[in-house]
Amino acid sequence: MSFLGSALVTTSTDPHALLAGARARVAAAADLQALQALERELLGKSGPAGLILASIPTLPPEQRKAAGAQANELKRALEEACAARRTALESAALESERSGGDFDPTLPPAPLERGGLHPVTRVVRELEDLFTSMGYTILDGPEVELDWYNFEALNIPKDHPARDAQDTFYCDPAGRLVLRTHTSPVQVRAMERMQPPFRAIVPGKVFRNEATDASHEHTFHQMEGLVVGKDVSVGHLIGAMKTLLRGVFGRDIEIRLRPGYFPFVEPGFELDARCPFCTSGCRVCKQSTWIELLPCGMVHPNVLKSGGIDPEQWTGFAFGLGLSRLVMLRYGIDDVRHLLSGDLRFLEQF
Ligand code: PHE
Repeated sequence: MSFLGSALVTTSTDPHALLAGARARVAAAADLQALQALERELLGKSGPAGLILASIPTLPPEQRKAAGAQANELKRALEEACAARRTALESAALESERSGGDFDPTLPPAPLERGGLHPVTRVVRELEDLFTSMGYTILDGPEVELDWYNFEALNIPKDHPARDAQDTFYCDPAGRLVLRTHTSPVQVRAMERMQPPFRAIVPGKVFRNEATDASHEHTFHQMEGLVVGKDVSVGHLIGAMKTLLRGVFGRDIEIRLRPGYFPFVEPGFELDARCPFCTSGCRVCKQSTWIELLPCGMVHPNVLKSGGIDPEQWTGFAFGLGLSRLVMLRYGIDDVRHLLSGDLRFLEQF
């Protein structure tokens, strides 16, 4: 009570005098630190405005509104005074720094650091533009995947030797969850969700438990492609791949198909492209003038069934573009490990 009593006495003295006194102290604050301490004191509970507010419950009701307004007004005036003093102190500090002996106003400012897009992101965006222009939808899928989607639904049962080709990170003792070893599981997820006919691409990270070297990494990027429709044929697949190459390299590039085995396509192919960098053999094509570009094939009927699509009515093709490899080809990167190294000396080049 005595506290409130004294507050009453104080406020009833003269708010103008109070404000004038506080302002004088603010104006005299010698540096930013002193100003900060003063600010805490004056704007806090026991500052002039705080004391008025605290006294309100003891005032006759008809005076309370005016007292509240007065407190707010006082607070605002003090805040203004503090802000003005802060500006003054800051510019004084800058002024003294500038007038120091070693200040050279002719020096250029520190350069602004400019960020850039990761080379994988660049290529993904280009390919997304290209494929959406051909009517493809862009899909995404989980990186921690069910064994069912990663293997089983893709016609790779538990005891199938094709599992050995993809050294898998299993996530639980039962082996029900895996880090997806390819983007193909999204084929089945897409079939479950979309009504044929449809076209989709799936760019994303995949994981394999491999010993790393210049061309192998435990984490890399792929882009799956899937087209399901009436009478979709190998001809459509070849057409789509030629368009892809024209988009990436800016001109027509000859391709060839070799037989390739993947349990989820039948027939399956390895698609090679004429080396875009030479005519008679170079380091990139290992002197063969062909580079292995991507595995692909016609979607296996069992996979269509896994995705709930009737293989008697619909057919489709799928391809698995090795994005990391394409990025390396595109930018002449000689070691896949650079891509996820996070090394700024590498990244700053893009
Ligand atoms: N998913 C396969 C792999 O990663 C590639 C592939 C995709 C093959 C689509 C055929 C069709 O090895």
